Amino acid sequence: MTKPIIAPSLLASDFANLEREVNMINQSEADWIHVDIMDGVFVPNISMGIPVVEAIRKHAQKPLDVHLMIVQPERYVEAFHNAGAAIISVHLEACPHLHRNIQQIKALGCQAGVAINPHTPVTLLEPVLKDIDLVCVMAVNPGFGAQKFIERTYQKVEQLRALIQKHNSTAKIEIDGGINLQNASSLMAAGADVLVAGNFVFSSSSPKEVITQLKSLKP
Ligand code: DX5
Ligand code: ZN
Repeated sequence: MTKPIIAPSLLASDFANLEREVNMINQSEADWIHVDIMDGVFVPNISMGIPVVEAIRKHAQKPLDVHLMIVQPERYVEAFHNAGAAIISVHLEACPHLHRNIQQIKALGCQAGVAINPHTPVTLLEPVLKDIDLVCVMAVNPGFGAQKFIERTYQKVEQLRALIQKHNSTAKIEIDGGINLQNASSLMAAGADVLVAGNFVFSSSSPKEVITQLKSLKP
């Protein structure tokens, strides 16, 4: 049985101790480090920028999975690549020229992801499924950590898994928002490959153990 890829989200970590938090992830069974970038325009919150990603990269021993919640991502994709991003996801809703955004990310040698908001149908991804490495399905409205998981996500994941198979795509399905031990197994059973977890990991008194628990889940 394939184990899920676990990507703890630093958004919920202690920003005053990022080195310690990144080292905890290094020593854990996590696979990627999820980095949330918010511009205060696409989403009603501002998180961190390029210099912080560079600082994270200095300590990170795992790939940086950079989730851009920003308008006009084409202006900053190269800077995030230079700052150390291995995977860059842009939001479908922020990209009138989505295919061009994907090409830009791939030309830099990064893996390309497309994130979709809870209201966005997965069928809108059909024309680009062969071009991308990752779909980030938002299970909360982007902008904040520690929100309640939206139950309809299961159905979207099942639909998306079927579309990926139909198109012979190798894109992974990542779920972002509200993940915990209650919903993670069902998400995997529905077809998820990657689980992002922020609050559930970092609000725990033993984050490394929580990561191990998520990694050991069976669908
Ligand atoms: C929300 C971010 C998520 C967030 C998830 O806009 O994209 O990555 O950090 O946090 P939790 O797991 O706390 O919902
Ligand atoms: Zn995210």
